[in-house]
Amino acid sequence: MTIALATCSLLPGGNDDMRALIAALGAEGLGAEPAVWDGDVDWSRYDLVVIRSTWDYPGKRNAFVAWAEGLPHVLNPAAVIRWNTDKRYLRDLADAGLPVVPTLWDPEDVPSDWPEYVIKPAVSIGSRDTARWGPGEEDEARAHLHSLRDAGRTVMVQPYLPAVDTAGETALVFCEGEYAHAARKAQILTAGAGVQGPVRNDPTRGQITATTPTEAELDVAHRALAALPGAPDLLYARVDLIPGPDGTPLIIEVELTEPNLYLPHAPPSAKKFAKAISARL
Ligand SMILES: Nc1ncnc2c1ncn2[C@@H]1O[C@H](COP(=O)(O)OP(=O)(O)O)[C@@H](O)[C@H]1O
Ligand SMILES: [Mg+2]
Repeated sequence: MTIALATCSLLPGGNDDMRALIAALGAEGLGAEPAVWDGDVDWSRYDLVVIRSTWDYPGKRNAFVAWAEGLPHVLNPAAVIRWNTDKRYLRDLADAGLPVVPTLWDPEDVPSDWPEYVIKPAVSIGSRDTARWGPGEEDEARAHLHSLRDAGRTVMVQPYLPAVDTAGETALVFCEGEYAHAARKAQILTAGAGVQGPVRNDPTRGQITATTPTEAELDVAHRALAALPGAPDLLYARVDLIPGPDGTPLIIEVELTEPNLYLPHAPPSAKKFAKAISARL
């Protein structure tokens, strides 16, 4: 049995998350290797493809989804990948009654009466093309909004949730629908910093630490999972939450495509995923 762990050409060997998974799979007697999703790869060699660090797809989403749809056995399933690679899925979750970060979709202009707000594209990862704007920055914010729109991208505008500066973002990781562990991700967007590239240079931004979720966070995450299309087929899922103005956890993202699972922060979960993958073969 050989398993491909799909990655991108920027990270041909994967990352620490993938290395933790490969080691755990090895301990289960399973061979696994990184493979670049749009590289010169004979996918028929593999019994299973597990999508992992494919973090360059936002500029080529159609090709990425088509690649997943062409694979005989891929996890998460290709239909889930199609749905989940565009954050417009958040509208489906809001329609299902889940607490999602309030979002203006493709607004004509920047909000005039919000203290601070975030502008981001619906297809993105790693905070790319994302920025936090405030009073007095309307011209730059408008230019940002228009540059995304002119590139044919769906634009999302959300109030900046200031609780992220103190509480951070809580990422709840699920394996085969069961809660596995959680991580706290520190705040990322700096006021006045303009549009983000990949966050690399400041180690405090987006810093990951192990955490224990609150009952309220667990409850929202479980409800989100239950509302997902294809829920029974999900090998992995990560629900990202930030407290709203009244402290209620709000869903910022449900990552079913290529979530970092933060396995080095949760060794028992690496084993859990390895056993789950083994059972899928
Ligand atoms: N409405 C918001 N309020 C506060 N911080 C936000 C908001 N939207 C995004 N961010 C910050 O930007 C980061 C990236 O945004 P996110 O929606 O998670 O997209 P992605 O991770 O796919 O790039 C988040 O981890 C968070 O730190
Ligand atoms: Mg995110």
